Amino acid sequence: MCIVLNVHTMLFLVILSSLSCTACGAALQDDMSELWNFTESCLLTLWQSRIYLYTAAAVVFGVWFTINLLFVKKWTLSPVSLKARKPVKKQEVSGDVEKVIHVSCVKVFYGSQTGTGKGFSNEIAECVRAQGIQCEAIDMKEYDPEDRLVEECTSKTVCVFVVATYTDGQPTESAEWFCKWLEEASTDFRYGKTYLKGMRYAVFGLGNSVYVSHYNTVSKNIDKWLWMLSASRIMTRGEGDDNVTKSRHGSVQADFQAWKTTFLSRLQALARGEKKACSGNCKKDSCKNKKKHKEEAGSSTNSEEELMESSSESESSSEEELSHGSVIDMEDLGNAMNHMKKAKVKTKA
Ligand SMILES: Cc1cc2nc3c(=O)[nH]c(=O)nc-3n(C[C@H](O)[C@H](O)[C@H](O)COP(=O)(O)O)c2cc1C
Repeated sequence: MCIVLNVHTMLFLVILSSLSCTACGAALQDDMSELWNFTESCLLTLWQSRIYLYTAAAVVFGVWFTINLLFVKKWTLSPVSLKARKPVKKQEVSGDVEKVIHVSCVKVFYGSQTGTGKGFSNEIAECVRAQGIQCEAIDMKEYDPEDRLVEECTSKTVCVFVVATYTDGQPTESAEWFCKWLEEASTDFRYGKTYLKGMRYAVFGLGNSVYVSHYNTVSKNIDKWLWMLSASRIMTRGEGDDNVTKSRHGSVQADFQAWKTTFLSRLQALARGEKKACSGNCKKDSCKNKKKHKEEAGSSTNSEEELMESSSESESSSEEELSHGSVIDMEDLGNAMNHMKKAKVKTKA
């Protein structure tokens, strides 16, 4: 009896489980078909709107590519290449600093009759332009010093005078007015002694030492008058001698070439912003470059090596003492007086 009951129970359970399985399977099938339908409709929608998708993808790619091109390159640079870029920046910055102009223009004034001086002036102008500095050769008769010379003091110009001397030490006709005005201005109190302060100049004279008493008089005078008006020589006055037996370099052309070489190197130094090199005898503590100058003085004994010369080759040493800066310093005067007093006391004792 008990066994029969158990068999019935088991049978019931088997039927129940099979029934439930069938029900579950039917439900699963329904779910699957629903999922399939959903996926199918999604894919269909995607397929139908594929044009929009392609367009969107193309736009996104385009934007990404542009951003990459413009900015990402910077970020992906290696540290080495970044280091390499730094000096360029520095150069750019220092380039800006170096842009300070020390010589804006060179004006070569010539007083020539038979053309030698004019030829020299054009040669200077060409060489200066080759250095990248603006330059013009000007016939003195075309230039009125009364109206214009004072402008050269403030315009960072360097003025060069190439002048010939003629009979009795007179200038050429073309330079006559320039010389006359300059001579008068140099002694005229209305102009004052500092009328041409700030003007930088160099002089090259043409002459013939056969005319002993008037040799190169015009260049000497122009140099002197400019100096009297407080203009600054950038180098020693040069002399070209037609007399080949006495000419320093063998001919007026050779004299000129030697002077021109020095002039061009002076000009380069000025253009770099180099100032006058002091002789090492500068006032106590007033010159920051004293040590440097002493070293330089040891290596350079040639008077032509100084940037701001005070006179011609032959006269430089004597006029050096009379330079514009030779005002007696009160401190030095005081020291000298003290020394004298001490010396007196010693001799009395
Ligand atoms: C007639 C005459 C007179 C001269 N007088 C002098 C003179 O007094 N002093 C001098 O140093 N040179 C004198 N010279 C030399 C010239 O200055 C020299 O030849 C010069 O190179 C000429 O330059 P230019 O060709 O530019 O005019 C004289 C030359 C001539 C032809």
